[in-house]
Amino acid sequence: MNRLEPDRQGIERAVALLRAGEVVAIPTETVYGLAADAFDDAAVARVFEAKHRPSFDPMIVHVAPGSAREAVAKLARLDALNDEAGSVFDRLTTDFWPGPLTLVLPKARFVSDIVTAGLAHVAVRMPAHVVAQRLLEAFGGPLVAPSANRFGRISPTRAEHVVAELAGRVPAVLDGGPCEMGVESTIVGLAADGGLKLLRPGAVPVEALGSDLRWSTVDGAGGIEAPGQTDQHYSPATRCALLGGVVEEQDPATLRQLAADTEVALLRVVGDPASGRAALAAAGISVLDSRSLSPEGDLVQAARALFATLRELDDGSARRLLLEPPPSRRGLGHAIDDRLRRAAGSAR
Ligand code: TXA
Ligand code: MG
Repeated sequence: MNRLEPDRQGIERAVALLRAGEVVAIPTETVYGLAADAFDDAAVARVFEAKHRPSFDPMIVHVAPGSAREAVAKLARLDALNDEAGSVFDRLTTDFWPGPLTLVLPKARFVSDIVTAGLAHVAVRMPAHVVAQRLLEAFGGPLVAPSANRFGRISPTRAEHVVAELAGRVPAVLDGGPCEMGVESTIVGLAADGGLKLLRPGAVPVEALGSDLRWSTVDGAGGIEAPGQTDQHYSPATRCALLGGVVEEQDPATLRQLAADTEVALLRVVGDPASGRAALAAAGISVLDSRSLSPEGDLVQAARALFATLRELDDGSARRLLLEPPPSRRGLGHAIDDRLRRAAGSAR
């Protein structure tokens, strides 16, 4: 895989590949994406192939910075939104675009079924990463970009991760350095009547979006669903077990059961890695490694480090990873908790 510098020449090369119907891995502020021309079905099919992604899983379409209404004009049917839904669209895009918020909207007929997995809705986001923005501007059209990992695996937050995941399957990665946010965009469905549904917690905490808006839970919101949100996802190859809470407060017998008589590594979101290790050792468990994403308890820092640390532990020699959930599901804790649960295959 070619590593392209994020300068004019690198972007020109990436644009040439995209115009030729190829896929290119690109940086965004959340995670690296695997980009292709959203209006070229053969190129979109190549993304599914490179990722081993099942065709029931729809893709997010990325648009260049600018007026939100203009950016989505060829993708979504804003005319299908009632007045309330239209003003919710304007408010959310004014507050959060460009940025890590994906909106699922009624689809325009120009968008191919392969992009949306045959759904009546399309997911759109305007990324904040300057390299992604320059690329979108130079390409001159929307790009699909799912996370640049093989299906179900850990999302890449550095160009090296993309190489490790997809070498030989993708011609190039545009190297924009480490991703700032580290977890994927928040996905929100906007129904034609203005109702909203959280489809995936992510880098924009749901509390920030506006509690005065009309949120609906499980069903409702115009039948919008997110089919790709499978219970097992973001998964290391090493087996993972999710702790019920803070490791020092767990019952030693429960810890031994989760450790399953093998050598483990501990991943905690906050708190002291050494005292976590000590708690496991005191329960008679053999601990090879212990990490904390943010010993100081900063969830922004924790989210940024999440996938890279999971990847390192996966590459280490521990046979089982014990994952400690964040202290709460508030703010970025919601997305971090979601990713850890799915890594352990126990989403709720
Ligand atoms: O931060 C992100 O969103 C990253 C970066 C690269 O932009 N992209 C990303 O894409 O996370 P991906 O493919 O890994 O996750 C996209 C998910 C799908 O699995 C699905 O749940 C939801 O977005 N989605 C996409 N299109 C949809 C649609 N038309 N209706 C409902 N959900 C949709
Ligand atoms: Mg993904």
